Amino acid sequence: MILDQFPRHPLTFGPSPIHPLKRLTQHLGGAQVWAKREDVSSGLAFGGNKTRKLEYIVPDVVASGADTIVSIGGYQSNHTRQVAAVAAHLGLKARLVQEKWVPWDEPVNDKVGNILLSRMMGADSRLDDAGFDIGIRDSWKQALQEVEDAGGTPYPIPAGASEHRLGGLGFANWAFEVAEQEKQFGVFFDTIVVCTVTGSTHAGMIAGFAALEELTGVKRRVIGIDASATLQKTLDQVARIARNTAELIELGRDLRDDEIQVLEGWAGDLYGIPVDSTMSAMALGAQLEAMITDPVYEGKSLAGLIDLVQSGDIPKDSTVLYAHLGGQPAINAYHSLWS
Ligand SMILES: Cc1ncc(COP(=O)(O)O)c(C=O)c1O
Repeated sequence: MILDQFPRHPLTFGPSPIHPLKRLTQHLGGAQVWAKREDVSSGLAFGGNKTRKLEYIVPDVVASGADTIVSIGGYQSNHTRQVAAVAAHLGLKARLVQEKWVPWDEPVNDKVGNILLSRMMGADSRLDDAGFDIGIRDSWKQALQEVEDAGGTPYPIPAGASEHRLGGLGFANWAFEVAEQEKQFGVFFDTIVVCTVTGSTHAGMIAGFAALEELTGVKRRVIGIDASATLQKTLDQVARIARNTAELIELGRDLRDDEIQVLEGWAGDLYGIPVDSTMSAMALGAQLEAMITDPVYEGKSLAGLIDLVQSGDIPKDSTVLYAHLGGQPAINAYHSLWS
């Protein structure tokens, strides 16, 4: 398989586990719901979706001879925490730009959860007042320059590792991992539900499942649930990265528009701020399955899945796979939601 030709530095225990969500399925009374758990598949600081993306980026970091990985995210970025973890694992430094992406004014927002873990792992994590934007930021370019000016050799990883040439490969491979697990469990997932913000998780899946479709002729629906609240930007980014990744893995055809679906309706008005549907989904996941989700990402995609199953948009005879991408450390910064 072409994906095997890309070097991969293992950062996970192996395939992320899959399991049925029996009580949630029963409660919803529709499609069969399963989860695939990126949140419990690595020993590096709780892992998550970026860990899987970074498996394909680390060989390039090592080959570059860099001594400092420079990346960016919000105060409670899961991505920068995973970059800090990988830097510690490789014996490199991490310089992190943490912007005020979320107007969430709990006094511990810039102190606990992800940012605390990054600092514990030795990252140089600095706050910046700039607001949310998934694009390339000046603050990040400046951090790269500062590392160079200080005599270091930086390796740039943009927000979410998305606008990186290799950023889609981790989740293209995820599609093939799902196909293997389907054989093992005797199940077929006709629908996948995934949270999307910076885009390369969903985009990688689109390219990977398209490649699988070429091999098997079997079509599936890969539904991205927008949690950015800047839908058009995320949709453009998903489409661009999906096409680049498809080319990289030599799909040999253009992606169809129906393969690139990002649905809105669960993000609320602002990235990082939970709405009623987020809170209900988080409560359902926790109380029926002890499956913990966060208010920024997974609570929103779980809310999307719940509505799509309950409304019959995902039909009753479907088997749907919820991609749990991690993110739990951020809940510490949102403790007032339950206080
Ligand atoms: C827990 C979690 N879920 C979902 C996402 C969205 O993934 P992506 O940025 O690749 O679209 C992220 C990161 O942004 C995340 O940390």
